[in-house]
Amino acid sequence: MKSSGITPPQKALVTGAAGGIGQAIVAALKAQGAVVVAADRDVSTVDADHHLSGDLLNPQYADGLAQAACDAMGGLDLVINNAGVITRGAVTESSDADWALSLGVNVEAPFRICRAAIPIMAAAGGGVIVNTASCWGGKAPGPNHALYCMTKAAIASLTQCMGMDHAHQNIRINAVCPNEVNTPMLRSGFERRGFDPDTAIAELGKTVPLGRIAEPEDIADVVMFLASDASRYMTGTLVEVNGGKPVS
Ligand SMILES: NC(=O)c1ccc[n+]([C@@H]2O[C@H](COP(=O)([O-])OP(=O)(O)OC[C@H]3O[C@@H](n4cnc5c(N)ncnc54)[C@H](O)[C@@H]3O)[C@@H](O)[C@H]2O)c1
Repeated sequence: MKSSGITPPQKALVTGAAGGIGQAIVAALKAQGAVVVAADRDVSTVDADHHLSGDLLNPQYADGLAQAACDAMGGLDLVINNAGVITRGAVTESSDADWALSLGVNVEAPFRICRAAIPIMAAAGGGVIVNTASCWGGKAPGPNHALYCMTKAAIASLTQCMGMDHAHQNIRINAVCPNEVNTPMLRSGFERRGFDPDTAIAELGKTVPLGRIAEPEDIADVVMFLASDASRYMTGTLVEVNGGKPVS
């Protein structure tokens, strides 16, 4: 039986690496001795070993990312599909552009990346994929974010199905489902609505049983668990990280 903990050297691809949770994941992986390829629209400032900037809405970029990461690192053990966008509003307030963006980044890109990464991992004897879903949609419906929740339900379902389908290839595929996290995604929403983000986040923290919303590191630590041998008997699961707060 293998011992728990991440087994360096891991060769990891992280999307959304320049974002709030993505930067925390890259830092956690680097601290464990992993080699990391960072992917995002602009990863020039991300402290990773290799940088593959690009737009996940570009099918050629998304299709080629796993092989490019594998070529850069000489292997690919771990893929973390963390990039995401949030579109707000009920269906009646959602545009065609909202639909294309939400599906494109949150569902189609991870689909393309997984489709390419799984054969690479299978040929090497196995691997791990961690997707970022959300409590919103991934576990329960949420108010006034219909398309966002739908995409997170879709990636949650894809994770469950892929976890079953590729277990025989020694590939474990799980998803983390955060509730509210203190990142630009959340802060920019408060700013757009005219609220001071620090005040709004402190107020929001009062609604969480553990007394605060999540920091990116709270999510990165669970991603590290799902990436590591400590979760070796888990696949196709959705792990809620919500401080005790259900979607309401
Ligand atoms: N912040 C929250 O409250 C929260 C809650 C639940 C789930 N999540 C999920 O966590 C993940 C990370 O979000 P975050 O909070 O760190 O947000 P963030 O906005 O800080 O980071 C998201 C990153 O994805 C990248 N990205 C978006 N569109 C892209 C594209 N077309 N091509 C390449 N990169 C693209 C952005 O550039 C950004 O760096 C997302 O999947 C998000 O849905 C966040």
